[in-house]
Amino acid sequence: MIRRRNYPRRRHLVEEVVLITGATSGIGAGLAIRFHARGAHVIITGRNLSRLNALAAEHPGMTPTIMDVVEPESVRRAMDKIAASNPHITTLINNAGIQRPLDFSSHVRPVIADIADEVATNFTGLVDVTSAALPLLHRAPYARVVHVSSGLGFVPLTGAPVYSATKAAVHSFTISLRHQLRHSNIGVVELIPPVVDTPLHRAMSAAPPMAMPLEKFLDRTMAGLDSGRDDIAIGLGRMSVIGSRLAPSILLKLINRDTH
Ligand SMILES: NC(=O)c1ccc[n+]([C@@H]2O[C@H](COP(=O)([O-])OP(=O)(O)OC[C@H]3O[C@@H](n4cnc5c(N)ncnc54)[C@H](OP(=O)(O)O)[C@@H]3O)[C@@H](O)[C@H]2O)c1
Repeated sequence: MIRRRNYPRRRHLVEEVVLITGATSGIGAGLAIRFHARGAHVIITGRNLSRLNALAAEHPGMTPTIMDVVEPESVRRAMDKIAASNPHITTLINNAGIQRPLDFSSHVRPVIADIADEVATNFTGLVDVTSAALPLLHRAPYARVVHVSSGLGFVPLTGAPVYSATKAAVHSFTISLRHQLRHSNIGVVELIPPVVDTPLHRAMSAAPPMAMPLEKFLDRTMAGLDSGRDDIAIGLGRMSVIGSRLAPSILLKLINRDTH
């Protein structure tokens, strides 16, 4: 699964421009801070302007831009604005995501609008942002798209069935996109996190056990990105990728042990 791509490690002659979706919290905000600390121009996007502005105020040089990934018009406006003031994008990090617990065994039917919103945020929006960013990525000598999927795309968390399905879709889309762009200047990276200690799990009844501290996750993500690997599977994420092939039912029980 881990293939190496001829992605240059030393790119100091090229202005590094990093665009991150969902940069107001958790992993997105953490990666924004890491890239900014390295001297990259970081464009932080999200749907909450005051939170974007607060992050930019703490890290002068970051550019806040409103972009709601589920609204195609918002994506188009943001990309137009970014194209007007940047020569290119070198790294797009498709990070925005939401997770909802949904129970199809309950008498209360899940709300279709909630399902559609989760699919739009985690999958359709990611596809739209990637598609909209391609012209700017093509303008860079070397570029990469990073899709944040999840170990749950390989072994589902049954209490978050739509979330897990969207992450499986992200995995599949990533493979196709990588193949389509294989002769281009753009690499396509799948970041497969374990459970990480962020606000993502706010709707779950209890914080998930074994969550990796955010800073440790960011250390490993940056090292993975620096290595030029196509697939960066970390901790339980890596265990899920391997386990889904070697022992799928054991992994399914392990991930869902509280519900068996
Ligand atoms: N934490 C984990 O255990 C874990 C594990 C595997 C994968 N991941 C993935 O990692 C990514 C980041 O999650 P996180 O853990 O950092 O969660 P988080 O702290 O909740 O951050 C999610 C971010 O996505 C943004 N977002 C949500 N809907 C959006 C929309 N329509 N348009 C633009 N931005 C939107 C949120 O912005 P608002 O502030 O506006 O809501 C927030 O900035 C997600 O794709 C998630 O699925 C996380």
